[in-house]
Amino acid sequence: MILDGKKVSQAILEDLSKQVSILEKKPHLAVILVGENSASKIYVKNKKIAAEKVGIKTSIIELVESTTEEELLSKIEELNASNDVTGILVQLPLPKHINKNNVITAISPQKDVDGFHPENVGRMVIGLEPYYYPATPQGIIMLLDYYNIPIEGADVIVIGRSNIVGKPMAQMLLKRNATVTCCHSYTKDLENKIKTADIVISAVGKKIVRCKMVKKNSVIVDVGIFKDSNGQLTGDVDFDYVSSSVGYITPVPGGVGPMTIASLMCNASKVYR
Ligand code: GUN
Repeated sequence: MILDGKKVSQAILEDLSKQVSILEKKPHLAVILVGENSASKIYVKNKKIAAEKVGIKTSIIELVESTTEEELLSKIEELNASNDVTGILVQLPLPKHINKNNVITAISPQKDVDGFHPENVGRMVIGLEPYYYPATPQGIIMLLDYYNIPIEGADVIVIGRSNIVGKPMAQMLLKRNATVTCCHSYTKDLENKIKTADIVISAVGKKIVRCKMVKKNSVIVDVGIFKDSNGQLTGDVDFDYVSSSVGYITPVPGGVGPMTIASLMCNASKVYR
């Protein structure tokens, strides 16, 4: 069965637009894009379209590639101090001369809609409620919950250990009482680990989950999205072979991608004073 991220995200966005319409203080998301990364430009455009659909005001701040770290930090300071801006997102990756962690740390935790600030990450890890959870893992949890897939006690393999997906995903699953195994490029015998898992979440960006690896009736969540040698969009999972034996699987595109956007919009509609 397909985990239809497109359908579920639409339902979430519709519900969200009703909630936003009755908010006294309207959310205003500021998105900073530095440089000319073409994928980032598309992501930012999609975020803007979704935000406007649900009634979240957006300001896209485009800065040239040569912007200095100091200039970027001063822009963030200005947005932190603004009474009107309620959320700030700096699209990653940043140009190499800018230290990503300095930038993430400069954003006010109450406006950090990505949930990447050390205070939000730290709160999540020690079991305090963060102001925001990272959008992709939160969206994946929403998708699993929508289909009533049990997380508590499930054996879950998370492949990939990025700060954006793998690490927060593992923490959020732990919070929901799953047994989590974090796998990465140094993991031994990935195939046997995948074979025993109830849920596999792959966020690598390479074709890594192949046909005979999965357990019958398991749940496969494919976070990867990239172009194959024919220029077709594809994911980490060999969908055509795997889909016949598993219980649930996300398509690429139309699975995790739209859920990430919906989840980000849930974050961006929160207003802290
Ligand atoms: N680049 C890729 N994914 C993300 C994300 O979730 N947030 C930001 N800010 N940049 C990204």
